Amino acid sequence: MVINSIKVARICDNKFITSLVLEKAGVPTPAFALAFGEEQAKTAVSRIGGYPVVLKPISGSWGRLLARINDDDALEAVIEQKTTLGGPHHHAFYFQRYIEKPGRDIRINVIGGQVFAAIYRQSNHWITNTARGAVAMPCEVDEKLEKIAVKAADAIGEGIFGIDVFETKDGYMVNEVNHTMEFKNVQRVTGLDVAGAIIDYCIKRSKL
Ligand SMILES: Nc1ncnc2c1ncn2[C@@H]1O[C@H](COP(=O)(O)OP(=O)(O)O)[C@@H](O)[C@H]1O
Ligand SMILES: [Mg+2]
Repeated sequence: MVINSIKVARICDNKFITSLVLEKAGVPTPAFALAFGEEQAKTAVSRIGGYPVVLKPISGSWGRLLARINDDDALEAVIEQKTTLGGPHHHAFYFQRYIEKPGRDIRINVIGGQVFAAIYRQSNHWITNTARGAVAMPCEVDEKLEKIAVKAADAIGEGIFGIDVFETKDGYMVNEVNHTMEFKNVQRVTGLDVAGAIIDYCIKRSKL
């Protein structure tokens, strides 16, 4: 048995498919679009509500290769760079609407359909990955956060997830779901034994 399953990996390894799955399940998530080429990219940006937008690699982590794009000039430049210099998988342009957040986002771990731990990731930069220098702090999970995290995990499937959540004026919003989550910062700042919980979950699954 492999945990997480290939079905889960195929969704989470692709931010576009993840967004589709979340949207279909009714999980609040930033408006998103996929485009090929400059013209489609411009149409995509206007369809998701206009600038600023975030352009991301379809498959990526640690906040790498993200671009916040504020106008057509920047969009044209980034698209030209990616089209000319990037490999084929950088020619598919995945956009999200840029979401205002309070200098941080939330990383919440859901293991076997249950919330296990959560942290804030605080940064002066709009990219709040701890791999990019954000500071991790424990986060109390309220009922709404728990609900949205479990709903997002359920939409993806059975497994172990690290879910990125934004706090917005309209409530929580799920940015992405990670299926190969790291947890050293969660474990360090919450004192919770994430590694132990993962092992317990795997043992339980193997006995089913
Ligand atoms: N649409 C967005 N609006 C505002 N901030 C964003 C948006 N998308 C990503 N970010 C910021 O960038 C970080 C990394 O983006 P994410 O989609 O989680 O990619 P990665 O897989 O590299 O972690 C997020 O944790 C968040 O701080
Ligand atoms: Mg992330």
